[in-house]
Amino acid sequence: MDRNNNQLTWLVDAVQASAKYGDISPDLITRIGAQELVKRRSVKEALKATKNKLHQVGGAYFDAKEHYIRWINELKMAARSGKREQLLDLCATIMTYHASTRERIPILARFYTQIFSELPPVHSILDIACGLNPLALPWMPLSEEGVEYYAYDIYHSMMDFLREWLTIMGIQGDAQMCDVLQAIPLQQVDVAFLLKALPCLEQVDKSAGYRLLREIPAHNLVVSFPVHSLGGRSKGMLEHYEAHFREIVGSEQEWEVTRLVFDRELVFVVRK
Ligand SMILES: C[S@@+](CC[C@H](N)C(=O)[O-])C[C@H]1O[C@@H](n2cnc3c(N)ncnc32)[C@H](O)[C@@H]1O
Repeated sequence: MDRNNNQLTWLVDAVQASAKYGDISPDLITRIGAQELVKRRSVKEALKATKNKLHQVGGAYFDAKEHYIRWINELKMAARSGKREQLLDLCATIMTYHASTRERIPILARFYTQIFSELPPVHSILDIACGLNPLALPWMPLSEEGVEYYAYDIYHSMMDFLREWLTIMGIQGDAQMCDVLQAIPLQQVDVAFLLKALPCLEQVDKSAGYRLLREIPAHNLVVSFPVHSLGGRSKGMLEHYEAHFREIVGSEQEWEVTRLVFDRELVFVVRK
């Protein structure tokens, strides 16, 4: 037991010391590290496999260095200018730094208009495994009374940045680093977004999709899947994820499901 604990402590410290993965939730590093220690022949192999997995579920989406401090200053200036187009351009530019939001930029306006037209009035949103998606807030058709927004992802500095972004926008809520596999956010909200999140989360915990759809305390869920891989291949992905989603929903007869297909993204709006 002690030996296992020492190995896990060593592995977590080694991951946290690396420039690429040091910013990730220690809870997630520990969970993946423990899984890999069981599977691999040595602690060094487990370390390598842990870093690979962290790359697959998070690091692979960033292909350039983020500039959070500069972006905050630019966002403050754009918001103060009162020029909506300037703010939209800047948000879109920043969203190019995360592959998942980058591929949604050409369809953003239509994406949120169509999704919100399937929802009752929305006053509160939970964004699970959010990436840089909170920067899409200016494209969301929100009610005049405003919205509360709660965002979660595994990167500490990204969540600090997004918390400041919410403040700049005058939006109530929070952005917190969280491994949602171990701590499902429990805010009562009108709608929860699980945008392209399940394929990542299920790489670490196969039951994640099943559990999250049932345990998130929201009557409305927006669950989406990529239609192309990060490398651009798309063969059979739509059919594969549609079948997977239907399997997760299983025999929940009460749930109403609306299916929307966008270029590059398959979306299910679920009313529970
Ligand atoms: C495919 S991206 C989707 C990002 C965003 N929802 C969107 O659609 O643009 C998957 C996101 O899941 C995050 N992630 C992976 N594992 C996570 C975990 N255990 N808890 C919270 N977020 C996680 C990654 O950091 C990444 O930002």
